[in-house]
Amino acid sequence: MAAGVHAAEIAPLDDFAQRMQPCAACHGREGRPATEGYSPRIAGKPAGYLYEQLLNFRDGRRVSPMMSYMVDRQSEAYLRRMAEFFSQQEFPYATPRVVRRDAASMARGEQLVRKGDAAHSIPACMTCHGQQLTGIAPAVPGLLGLPQYYLAAQLNSWRQGLRHARAPDCMAEIAQALQADDVDAVSAWLASQPVPRDARAPLQRFEAPLRCGSLEPR
Ligand code: HEC
Ligand code: HEC
Repeated sequence: MAAGVHAAEIAPLDDFAQRMQPCAACHGREGRPATEGYSPRIAGKPAGYLYEQLLNFRDGRRVSPMMSYMVDRQSEAYLRRMAEFFSQQEFPYATPRVVRRDAASMARGEQLVRKGDAAHSIPACMTCHGQQLTGIAPAVPGLLGLPQYYLAAQLNSWRQGLRHARAPDCMAEIAQALQADDVDAVSAWLASQPVPRDARAPLQRFEAPLRCGSLEPR
């Protein structure tokens, strides 16, 4: 009996960080160029955003068999704890490798990010994702330091109705206003940008040009 108690003290099975280790196999690739691979990094993202995504995978608003398996039947309290845990982690970003696209395509990507395209009802990405594109706490994620494939896949999932955020789903509206070429241009431009040294999402008030359900309190 006493020995059992002692063993539990040496190797605490309820060490939350230890239970989160499997996540790092896909999400914790420190030093990997942001433009390569597919799995997005989760360290340092706003907790409110991460929590929404874990709920989305659990409840089927976002499709990824792997991620749904990871969060299957987990309680809200546990998912919130996961989100808090990863939002507090920090590790440096590698210098991104520039994605090769022609100058016109890169210029289009930058235009969408900085100015949007009023003729097609596309607001500038910066108005919600922040002037530095590192997101706005607690619920808007940053767009830098992510693989180009991942960014393009997310925008295409919204266009095709495979990813949903809480209604009204502003990103679905925006993604559906983008042309296929725009998705490629904007994701290539974003993936090619250096990440500022402090990549945390600042806590700010801002005027979102569209209503986003995931920015409203739960
Ligand atoms: C086998 C690889 C793998 C493992 C292990 C894994 N994930 Fe994921 N995760 C992914 C992939 C791939 C995606 C992107 C899915 C998509 O296409 O939407 C993802 C997406 C996410 C996202 C959304 C990120 C964003 O920016 O929207 C969160 C949050 C997340 N995972 C958390 C976790 C946590 C927490 C764990 C551990 C309990 C975990 N993942 C384990 C592969 C993995
Ligand atoms: C009206 C505010 C708003 C604008 C403008 C906006 N976004 Fe978003 N975006 C959001 C919100 C809110 C989320 C989080 C959605 C969720 O909870 O799933 C998001 C999420 C994303 C994601 C998912 C990130 C990840 O880690 O999976 C991508 C990619 C994205 N936006 C790209 C863009 C691009 C590109 C533009 C410009 C063309 C843009 N956004 C403009 C509000 C906005």
